[in-house]
Amino acid sequence: MKAKITIDKNFKIGEVQRNIYGSFIEHLGRAVYEGIYQLGLSVSDEEGLRKDTLELVKELKVPIVRYPGGNFVSGYNWEDGVGPKEKRPRKVDLAWGVVETNQFGLDEFASWAKKADTEVMMAVNLGTRGIAEALNVLEYCNLKGGSYYSDMRIANGHKDPYGVKVWCLGNEMDGPWQIGHKTAAEYGRLASETGRVMKVMDPSIKLVACGSSSSGMPTFASWEAEVLDNCYNEIDYLSLHQYYNNTANDSADFLARNMEMDDFISSVVSICDYVKAKKRSKKKINLSFDEWNVWYHSNEQDKKIEKWVSVPHQLEDVYNFEDALLVGSLLITLLKHADRVHMACLAQLVNVIAPIMTSDTGAWRQTIFYPYRDASLYGNGTVLNTIVDTEKYDSKNFCNVSYVDSIVVYNEEKEEVTIFAVNKNMTEDIELTCDLRQFEGFKVKEHIVLHNEDLKAENTEANKNNVAPVTSDVSKLDGGILNSVLKHKSWNVIRLSK
Ligand code: AHR
Repeated sequence: MKAKITIDKNFKIGEVQRNIYGSFIEHLGRAVYEGIYQLGLSVSDEEGLRKDTLELVKELKVPIVRYPGGNFVSGYNWEDGVGPKEKRPRKVDLAWGVVETNQFGLDEFASWAKKADTEVMMAVNLGTRGIAEALNVLEYCNLKGGSYYSDMRIANGHKDPYGVKVWCLGNEMDGPWQIGHKTAAEYGRLASETGRVMKVMDPSIKLVACGSSSSGMPTFASWEAEVLDNCYNEIDYLSLHQYYNNTANDSADFLARNMEMDDFISSVVSICDYVKAKKRSKKKINLSFDEWNVWYHSNEQDKKIEKWVSVPHQLEDVYNFEDALLVGSLLITLLKHADRVHMACLAQLVNVIAPIMTSDTGAWRQTIFYPYRDASLYGNGTVLNTIVDTEKYDSKNFCNVSYVDSIVVYNEEKEEVTIFAVNKNMTEDIELTCDLRQFEGFKVKEHIVLHNEDLKAENTEANKNNVAPVTSDVSKLDGGILNSVLKHKSWNVIRLSK
């Protein structure tokens, strides 16, 4: 099989916004406790922050991390997690049926984020709480001092404000499972009023309103339109959430599911622009795809978890190789929409549906770690309109699925061109060509390949490097024409530079 990629350096989709490589830490399962924080463990520092996790997070160069939820935030009192630890209350967390000890809170998270070289994206509780509490937490985080909550932060030992720039107005408020679930009209009004006064307190912040919890929600599309109708002027981004599964064990169909993401993004862009036109507004709303990943492996196990315990093994998906391929295609899809998707969060970061896993004896990289790391490291610059000409297949739910997903990113400043490509063909290697004569003097720097004959191969603590990338020498650039081979079932990063 053959594939031809056509690009032109003048045909640009948009600049990659680094925040599309964001992630998410929720008070859920072992994400916080045992994931990023474990007091007394030999690999933890004096604050109890796990250094092994920090190293892996830094390897991913995660630009921004959403916190503290997720469903958790809709029942959370942020004040419970600040101040002397011995005074912090143990509280019932209705979202996940557990008991939250509050030994870790926003001050600890801000400190972790600093050490992880990442920014905080804070969510406020618009489930059980509202405008007042959103203002209070913003005051605690961003005001210099001289007011009740900013002085409280200083009294808690944190003189400098955190300067949190991005704030989520609640979480999945369209979902009937959400604590304090609302109609679109109720939520839209609340988001508008909350956002308006938050920007009075700190005009430099950016706000994310809740879009749909998935494109499968019965209220999808009308929810977005009505919410935006109410809060268009106050907000900057609209969120999208979507998780993908292969419960049917149909790999061809599963690997096509990035087409669903593509469609979802295009639809939400259309709705944003419809409301823009209706309001005769000059302002454009961009998208924050702030929860996306594969999630299904742990579903059955999670049904057995006892209620009201603390820190259970929850949502601990062990990812396999085909999950890494889909994650690669999903990253390519996000890049294809770089003009409008300005933030995205791989959900989540550690232990809970995550690229990083930990135990008391170590931390390791799941299969999905690799495409996420490659995109974050090398997918920076201008996304070029990438036309892929190759064969297509039909699956149970999708027609015309390209065997190759690809996107090309040109980093003019660094004089680098990166081709990301997934070969979804299970048996055939694909001969790839791409005319790169516009990039005079460029050479192949590296071709990274993630491949495994077994789609179900996993990385575990006992076998940490079962699925790991290798470098290949099959890519040749001769007279400006790239000739390469995309191995059957593989994720590829072809890096070219001067
Ligand atoms: O990421 C796990 C959960 O998925 C989040 O708490 C929620 O927002 C979504 O439903």
